[in-house]
Amino acid sequence: MEPVPPVPRHGGNLQQAAALLGCRPSALLDLSASLVPFGPPASVRWALLQAQGFGPTSPLCVYPDRAQTALRQAIAGHHGLDPAAVLPGNGAAELFTWAARDAAALGTSLQPTPGFADYARALACWQAPVQPLPLRLDPWSAAPSPLLPALVDPAALDRGPVLWLTNPHNPTGQLWSRASLAPLLERCRLLIVDEAFLPLVPDGEAQSLLPLVAAHPQLVVIRSLTKLGAIAGLRSGYAVGQPERLARWAAWRDPWPVNGLAAAVVPALLADRRWSRRVQAWVAREGPRLQQALQRLPGLQPRASSANYLLLQADRSLTELQQRLLRHHRILVRDCRSFEGLGDRWWRLALPAPAGRRRLLAALDRELRCHPGRHA
Ligand SMILES: Cc1ncc(COP(=O)(O)O)c(C=O)c1O
Repeated sequence: MEPVPPVPRHGGNLQQAAALLGCRPSALLDLSASLVPFGPPASVRWALLQAQGFGPTSPLCVYPDRAQTALRQAIAGHHGLDPAAVLPGNGAAELFTWAARDAAALGTSLQPTPGFADYARALACWQAPVQPLPLRLDPWSAAPSPLLPALVDPAALDRGPVLWLTNPHNPTGQLWSRASLAPLLERCRLLIVDEAFLPLVPDGEAQSLLPLVAAHPQLVVIRSLTKLGAIAGLRSGYAVGQPERLARWAAWRDPWPVNGLAAAVVPALLADRRWSRRVQAWVAREGPRLQQALQRLPGLQPRASSANYLLLQADRSLTELQQRLLRHHRILVRDCRSFEGLGDRWWRLALPAPAGRRRLLAALDRELRCHPGRHA
């Protein structure tokens, strides 16, 4: 019997899939992790080369600056913030752990579902209670939308002091409007907004809650740079929040949570505005293109998305099709069985580069024609 991959809780299990298939990871088209497929940018590659150096004081050799002074300044300068309001992290995921510790001290955390699994991991570290807040899975749009009508029970917000939001949402790609999120600040004792994918969204910054942080100590915004820069292996993200809160988090962590190479590269990535514009233009162009192409395939209903991934629903289980894509075409998709409220009729697909899009569509076309009725 053919080996079957386990149900994933995250995308990007490239090594595991390659080992299962007995191929090199580079032979796979990975659409399970939503990274920019044509990165990292030249600015990042160059900064990394310089940072490696060979001298005894290169960032590769010495301990990173524990105060992360230059890195904080670069991030703060990028957004026009006070450096004390910025805490760089080993990816956004590391920072969720500390946000969850604060959340645990305040009571129940509310989480729109289906949603990103790592918040639950972080909250479980501190035995924090979680209450799901089911989202309506009606067709949604790529444009900024108000959050409240999408929640099945907005009244639940009155009972929860802590709310975790993802903007744009993962896995739907729905962008919540700033105007609809700002009033939540009055209702929450802690509002954690994960803007991991916002830098990739065309005009996404207009919906960011970053400008509200200084006036709202109960707000924390967490950003990732691993998607924008295609540096998931290097790891980089940051939190923006009240300086006292971030100082407390810093005291909980290990002494060098951000490696020296990431610290050296991030300022170059942030300064590369051309790269951001290129990525956003690609999302604006390729997202609708992939959605329209998938729509033409029988039984598949791809949803509109503001981000560099989209959700696809089928009229029957996609599990067999998923396994055929992997085994016969070496294409890895994000199976949604681990998302509460979704299941085996759903996939999340990262936007591929044009060659990847052609490879995906040819593979789906072939499988759906050769095996009609067996799956979507
Ligand atoms: C919504 C969301 N936030 C955060 C992360 C983690 O980002 P990082 O790689 O910076 O830890 C992911 C990773 O997939 C994600 O989907």
